[in-house]
Amino acid sequence: MGRPVGKHKSARLVFGCVLLLGCGLVYDYFWAASPRFTSSSSFLSSNWAADNPPSSITVPSTPDRSSLEGRPAARDDAPGRVLSATFADLPGPELKWERMAPAPVPRLDGAAIQIKNLLYVFAGYGTIDFVHSHVDIYNFSDNTWGGRFDMPKEMAHSHLGMVTDGRYIYVVTGQYGPQCRGPTAHNFVLDTETKQWHDLLPLPVPRYAPATQLWRGRLHVMGGSKENRHTPAVEHWSLAVKDGKASETEWRNEITIPRGGPHRACVVVDDRLMVIGGQEGDFMAKPGSPIFKCSRRKEVVYGDVYMLDDENKWKVLPSMIKPNSHIEFAWAHVNNSLIIAGGTTEKHPMTKKMVLNGELVQFNLDTLKWSVIGKLPYRVKTTLVGFWDGWFYFTSGQRDKGPADPSPKKVIGEMWRTKLRL
Ligand SMILES: *[C@@H]1O[C@H](CO)[C@@H](O)[C@H](O)[C@H]1NC(C)=O
Ligand SMILES: *[C@@H]1O[C@H](CO)[C@@H](O)[C@H](O)[C@H]1NC(C)=O
Repeated sequence: MGRPVGKHKSARLVFGCVLLLGCGLVYDYFWAASPRFTSSSSFLSSNWAADNPPSSITVPSTPDRSSLEGRPAARDDAPGRVLSATFADLPGPELKWERMAPAPVPRLDGAAIQIKNLLYVFAGYGTIDFVHSHVDIYNFSDNTWGGRFDMPKEMAHSHLGMVTDGRYIYVVTGQYGPQCRGPTAHNFVLDTETKQWHDLLPLPVPRYAPATQLWRGRLHVMGGSKENRHTPAVEHWSLAVKDGKASETEWRNEITIPRGGPHRACVVVDDRLMVIGGQEGDFMAKPGSPIFKCSRRKEVVYGDVYMLDDENKWKVLPSMIKPNSHIEFAWAHVNNSLIIAGGTTEKHPMTKKMVLNGELVQFNLDTLKWSVIGKLPYRVKTTLVGFWDGWFYFTSGQRDKGPADPSPKKVIGEMWRTKLRL
């Protein structure tokens, strides 16, 4: 845990009430009950994973069209699985999830890179006022966490772009500090064999959560949000890199992306670069706030898929089944499919609350078809994902308030896995 829990509960509650009164619902939308979110008090009473569920659970598959069509869902106390009162949950087949050792700290908006049997997990918010500055490593061979080491002091703590060539991890831009602070253009490279960090040529201007990939010997950085955290950027730069070093002294301007914004999945498959989902707009710092307090702004979440190939022209591929954002580290490439865990979708049309996604979706790259291949133990965004030896793993992020309420609440470090059969 990043900070002690429970000691100042009443102070936190008072603090929370004052904040809610003073700032309206903005605070509640973003962090839900954030002053309490590290508490383990139970807020679930259903058969979607409880706070302390058994080590393995089965999520029943009960396709319920009412949740798709926007009709009110089953009552909270109804027997059986309760779906949220949104149009957003999609029916999906049964999956058995096994609970693994939790990460040493809970993380929201962290970053993750898998290299062989190791998942490197970076940075992230522990709470809205506290960000992590270290790396934790999960070993898929013996299913343990270990190997913690520090990040450079100047490295961003969330909204990072990140990609690996199998040894070197390229770390690009991102938000520096907690709340809704400014971004840094500072870039780094981690040599995972020596655990040494090196500087990399800074971006021309900083970004929040740009799509980042290695393609044809170049580090590509696209979109993201501009310096105010909200305005979508469409710029696209690249830099020739090899073995952790830049072989050029300037970022090259590349073809701009048709739609800008942060929090997209970005992959290279079969020598094609793809950018998936994301959003336009994001929370931004309240003007004049000395702590850069986050305040909610208009957001549009989308499910667009764009591809670059030999023609150096963006092509449009079939969209996701529903809009999905906060998925930059939520995907794994398995048997020529992308598997994506959780995310956020469009806000609830009535309550205007944020809505998290609880599905595991597949994008089959042979057929370019999207499908739901299962339900997660709960809805969750900014998951960090890996795949090893037939098992699909996810850890971290911010989960929902419960089966009947898809809005975000607790920041988690839990690790889960399921056996994939595509
Ligand atoms: C991961 O676990 C395997 C099996 O216990 C072990 O052989 C290997 O050394 C571990 N790797 C690291 C980097 O700790
Ligand atoms: C991937 O394909 C191989 C070969 O067809 C198969 O053995 C394996 O089970 C597949 N993996 C998954 C996760 O479906």
